Amino acid sequence: MNEQRTSRRQRVLKRATIAFDGAAIDCLVRDISATGAALDIESAPQPKPAIQVGHFNEICRVLSRKANRIGVCSSGKPRLSARRRRRKNRGRARFRGQSTCQSTYPSLGPAVTGVYQGHRLASRVPRTLRLPHISPVKPFIEVLSGRRQPVPPIWMMRQAGRYLPEYRELRAKAGGFLDLCFTPEYAAEITLQPIRRFNFDVAIIFSDILVIPHALGRAVRFEAGEGPRLDPLDTPEQVATLAATADFAKLEPVYEALRRVRAELDPKIALVGFCGAPWTVATYMVAGQGTPDQAPARMMAYRHPDAFARIIDTLVTNSIQYLLGQLKAGADALQIFDTWAGVLPPREFQRWSIEPARRIVEGVRKVVPDAKIIGFPRGAGALLPAYVEATGVDAVSIDWAAEPSLVRERVQSRVAVQGNLDPLALIAGGAALDRAVDDVLENYARGRLIFNLGHGILPETPIAHVEQMLRRVRAYKG
Ligand code: CP3
Repeated sequence: MNEQRTSRRQRVLKRATIAFDGAAIDCLVRDISATGAALDIESAPQPKPAIQVGHFNEICRVLSRKANRIGVCSSGKPRLSARRRRRKNRGRARFRGQSTCQSTYPSLGPAVTGVYQGHRLASRVPRTLRLPHISPVKPFIEVLSGRRQPVPPIWMMRQAGRYLPEYRELRAKAGGFLDLCFTPEYAAEITLQPIRRFNFDVAIIFSDILVIPHALGRAVRFEAGEGPRLDPLDTPEQVATLAATADFAKLEPVYEALRRVRAELDPKIALVGFCGAPWTVATYMVAGQGTPDQAPARMMAYRHPDAFARIIDTLVTNSIQYLLGQLKAGADALQIFDTWAGVLPPREFQRWSIEPARRIVEGVRKVVPDAKIIGFPRGAGALLPAYVEATGVDAVSIDWAAEPSLVRERVQSRVAVQGNLDPLALIAGGAALDRAVDDVLENYARGRLIFNLGHGILPETPIAHVEQMLRRVRAYKG
């Protein structure tokens, strides 16, 4: 009996020793110790080429105790044993340990640490252990860094939202939409919901572009079924009262949510932070709500260009700080949403969409030179190449009306392309959806592509259609 146990321990240990280098063993041990096992790792000499003799028994004990739960695979990532995997969907429990994560950007300083303590909301989290110090390749970041992937990484804009029953459930509990955004436990949980369901390659932090006007002291409300409402800012006199600097303490919950997600996320999945582009945020600030063609902001930009420029400048400087805060809290990449870029004529597009985005990219890269940034100038059409050239983004997100040969020749030749399935095709499903997915792959997957929608997913989208899309994209042989 004793002998049997010993040889099993040795087998486990052997596999672990083969699979990990010294530093990774450190992580494994640390993560194991975080589960509550008494393991003295601090006194082990540095560096540890392999498991130290003095720790042999402890590690054996821990590993063999966990051996029915942890498989150690050769990729260096512990995974659930087959038995556990089968069971995973029944008795789900959370790994309650402490995770340490490293910022992708060394220029931001020390590693970020976080402890996810949201046990109350944890019922769907599978029990897994992670080795956060190993940085496995994130396919999404690879594409942004210039390396095409054979199967394009995939995620969806607005992937956390009303088409998911688990989102609706939490939304009903939280009260207001902004309460969801500003409660880190909720925001982290909602960010992870679509990841658990679909295993996307990207998690986008759950928040909203209008948190910046909120932090600038503007009243922001989300009326049920009506969208955002703000106090309009449509005269030069009102603009004169606009604060120059946001109260960043109000945005601290967003950073905390990022830290929590970072600590939970599979290291192969990238975490994206975002802000609204100044033009799009300004359209809501000026009109106080969304309008079909954002005429109030366009009118103000013609009538009072100086006052309007003051709004834009304020948004530029504060968005830079906000995006840097998100990188520091653990975001791997950033997206600038310019949903309303397409309503601007070319001259205005240059001034209010391209130029502010260029300044934001420049401002972020001044502090984090290799920050990965995606621009989404929705509806830019033939102005896309100018946007890409002037702003310096690493990728552009394109809407479903983009013209493929123009995008391939003048955009994808320089940067990665993200998009561009029509969200209505995703609602339609069936053969129409298959055809629309194939079109995106046919048009762009021979170059650098991040598969996404041309705009956010709509609340009435059936979950089965999202699964259909995922299967088809992941079966792509390119
Ligand atoms: O993509 C994600 O999953 C992250 C979360 C996210 C939300 N809004 C959550 C949200 C992101 C990236 C945004 C960006 C955003 N917000 C944009 C730019 C992108 C786009 O979709 O155009 C804009 C213009 C906004 C402003 C905004 N927020 C509007 C116009 C609305 C109402 C319209 C709508 O879709 O309901 C919101 C509310 C909002 N933001 C919801 C969500 C999930 C719905 C809120 C609810 O549950 O009632």
